[in-house]
Amino acid sequence: MIDKRASKYSFVGVELPPVVRRNIRSMAGYKPGEQPPPGSMIKLNTNENPYPPSPLVEETWRNLDYAKLRTYPDPQAQALRRTAAEKFGLKPEQIIAGNGSDDLLTIGVRTLVDQGEGLAYTDPSYSLYPVLGRIQGARGIPVALGSDFQLPPRLQKTIADVPLLMLARPNAPTGTTFPLERIRQLCRKFRGVVWIDEAYADFAEDNCLELIDEFPNVVISRSLSKSYSLAGMRVGLAFARSGLIEEMMKVKDSYNLSLPAQKLGEAALRDEEYMQNNIKLIKAEREKTSRALTEFGFTVLPSQANFIFTRPPLPANEYMEELRQRSILIRHFAGERTGDFVRITIGQPEEMRLLLEATKDIIRKMT
Ligand SMILES: Cc1ncc(COP(=O)(O)O)c(C=O)c1O
Repeated sequence: MIDKRASKYSFVGVELPPVVRRNIRSMAGYKPGEQPPPGSMIKLNTNENPYPPSPLVEETWRNLDYAKLRTYPDPQAQALRRTAAEKFGLKPEQIIAGNGSDDLLTIGVRTLVDQGEGLAYTDPSYSLYPVLGRIQGARGIPVALGSDFQLPPRLQKTIADVPLLMLARPNAPTGTTFPLERIRQLCRKFRGVVWIDEAYADFAEDNCLELIDEFPNVVISRSLSKSYSLAGMRVGLAFARSGLIEEMMKVKDSYNLSLPAQKLGEAALRDEEYMQNNIKLIKAEREKTSRALTEFGFTVLPSQANFIFTRPPLPANEYMEELRQRSILIRHFAGERTGDFVRITIGQPEEMRLLLEATKDIIRKMT
């Protein structure tokens, strides 16, 4: 609808025609983590995997038939979904593939939440959720986590009429998890859909996959960006009962996964052993880094992800800036609940050694 009350608008200094929707004009948009020129910084800011994708992915990449790029990819990503179905013990009809799991989150919001309805999400959590709600014209309903970053006890009552609740397990940016039994109870009591974003589940002690069989109102999304080192290829998967998947298939872009993404995603899923080995290395480094930072006086939350969320013994943004001056990038999320913390992605052992060395130097200088 054209807003006739103004003929033009200004947003960050750019004039916009009056047809741009009010929600869009008034929002800032999602801010992805910084991507500096390759090799210029130690990059511990976007939770990428520090190891390359599996050799099987490399071989598939080399054997891709370039002439095939002339044709559209399979709109249903059937081979990828069949491979995922075998691996996760589901049927292909219970799986939808996405251009990264962000694409699936978008599809979920568009499928489940009407304009003016509520989209609930835990706070703090992945900052994309409220942005997707704004774009859809939904009412964002943040659900404040307790002081221990756990779900509040009467959550299902406070969001009783909301069609969709999004939560990340393990959570981001905290890296903490919610007990599986608590999630099960939530799924049982909540009438809307519980979307469990398991982008980091491969780094955790357990996951919620079994809930797909138990409840019709559960969606689980997974990412191949983190554990499978495929952030640049953009592959995600979501699991649910087949009826819900069928509805989401109507909403997705027709060709939402490129041909290379489908092929390389499939290859990555087939090399479980390689992925698990990298997970082992990352977890070992996560524990080592957590212990060392604790000794430096940092508060480190118990992490089940490939990053740690930690409160330094100096202002968090100053610590981040000091690291940046030493060519190390980490992430700080301003805000009441998160502003005292920083999020540090777990890199290779040498990168973490340099982080700890720089931290020691900063602590000596600043405290
Ligand atoms: C909680 C969470 N969900 C989803 C994503 C997006 O992952 P993908 O690369 O699969 O779009 C991220 C990325 O950082 C994330 O932190």
